[in-house]
Amino acid sequence: MTCLHDRHINPLILAGLDGKNWHLADYVKRGGYESLRRILTEKIPPEQVIAELKASNLRGRGGAGFPTGLKWSFMPRQFPGQKYLVCNTDEGEPGTFKDRDIIRYNPHALIEGMAIGAYAMGITAGYNYIHGEIWAEYERFEEALEEARAEGFLGNNIMGSDFSFQLHAFHGYGAYICGEETALLESLEGKKGQPRFKPPFPASFGLYGKPTTINNTETFAAVPFILKMGGAAYAAIGKPNAGGTKIFSISGDVERPGNYEIPLGTPFSKLLELAGGMRGGKKIKAVIPGGSSAPVITGEVMMNLDMDYDSIAKAGSMLGSGAVIVMDETRCMVKSLLRLSYFYYEESCGQCTPCREGTGWLYRMVHRIEHGQGRPEDLDMLNSIADNIQGRTICALGDAAAMPVRGMIKNFREEFAYHIEHKHCLVPAYI
Ligand SMILES: Cc1cc2nc3c(=O)[nH]c(=O)nc-3n(C[C@H](O)[C@H](O)[C@H](O)COP(=O)(O)O)c2cc1C
Ligand code: SF4
Repeated sequence: MTCLHDRHINPLILAGLDGKNWHLADYVKRGGYESLRRILTEKIPPEQVIAELKASNLRGRGGAGFPTGLKWSFMPRQFPGQKYLVCNTDEGEPGTFKDRDIIRYNPHALIEGMAIGAYAMGITAGYNYIHGEIWAEYERFEEALEEARAEGFLGNNIMGSDFSFQLHAFHGYGAYICGEETALLESLEGKKGQPRFKPPFPASFGLYGKPTTINNTETFAAVPFILKMGGAAYAAIGKPNAGGTKIFSISGDVERPGNYEIPLGTPFSKLLELAGGMRGGKKIKAVIPGGSSAPVITGEVMMNLDMDYDSIAKAGSMLGSGAVIVMDETRCMVKSLLRLSYFYYEESCGQCTPCREGTGWLYRMVHRIEHGQGRPEDLDMLNSIADNIQGRTICALGDAAAMPVRGMIKNFREEFAYHIEHKHCLVPAYI
């Protein structure tokens, strides 16, 4: 995947990147570390930094879309002991590959964003948790950290101020569940990556039991640009309830899969056009708009939707992490669901019964339909199992496993019914 300039519309994080200009000197030439410098030299009050974030309408880019300024304001700034800032570069959701590109192409935007966050929340120590299966990006981030430390942009008394922030990279374990924020914290502490009950939330009981703020890589990387242009200007780029640009990872049956940074609210049809359109001129059948846990939307409906949180939610799905999986007319929905349900079955951490047992049950039922052994009652049974998982588990992986099942059966019920009745696929390519 490459970050070519012509792939974006008004980009910020991915603007002007060619794969070689990721070094600190290049970032500084592009105006990098100016926001941090201004905050420190003008001694801008932390509350004002958080107010800019709130004005920007930046919503977390890790999946849930929680307002970042609000999250930062939850941090008990005056807490006397150690507090932590954590970046989530676990990125294990099928279809998502934007955070690794931020580290690969513009790591200093992330470092500057984390330093600004640390300043705003009175934090002196931070970690970036990087997915265990991505080595090159982990090494790149370590190099970028060294550059920032050598230049005095990290460490003690940053840029001659009285603000100090130590930032470290942590190479994770390659499990999808370690992207869930509390499992990530457990893993960072050296334990098995299993989610914790919430509450308490990380802002009060986080890493080593201390107040902790966790944000996604893209969320932090947007921060320097917000502080540079001002919260209101950033908000104006997107839609009223969702400010700024968003990086969409497009994969599947398009001519040019890759990462595209565009203003939130851009029509899906425009995004598809940037990606070169449907591969081989085939017809669009379905789109998973926000990573594997987002319910599928039919191609017809998707062509009239805008890429923002509210528009996608109104259509019954979610923008999630911005991983857009496009499927053409030759794709079998039963086979697609089989792949997805196997993933969640494999990745369930096993702590709660509905998820541990239910994901396996879903997978086995879809497997049986795919292999010509489905029964007419199976579709209602699949929905019923999904209902009994969703909302009844410790973390949202249970919901993530249930939602694709319900979305597939709602939108492509006839195709599933055909499989059951005829014991083979409706799609000619698979017969
Ligand atoms: C199973 C599961 C996996 C997740 N994986 C990731 C991930 O890889 N990266 C990420 O940023 N958030 C992930 N999340 C969401 C995080 O728990 C958390 O909401 C996010 O890191 C907060 O950052 P944000 O507010 O900037 O979005 C995951 C959640 C669940 C339930
Ligand atoms: S929902 Fe699944 S992944 Fe999450 S804690 Fe329960 S068993 Fe583990």
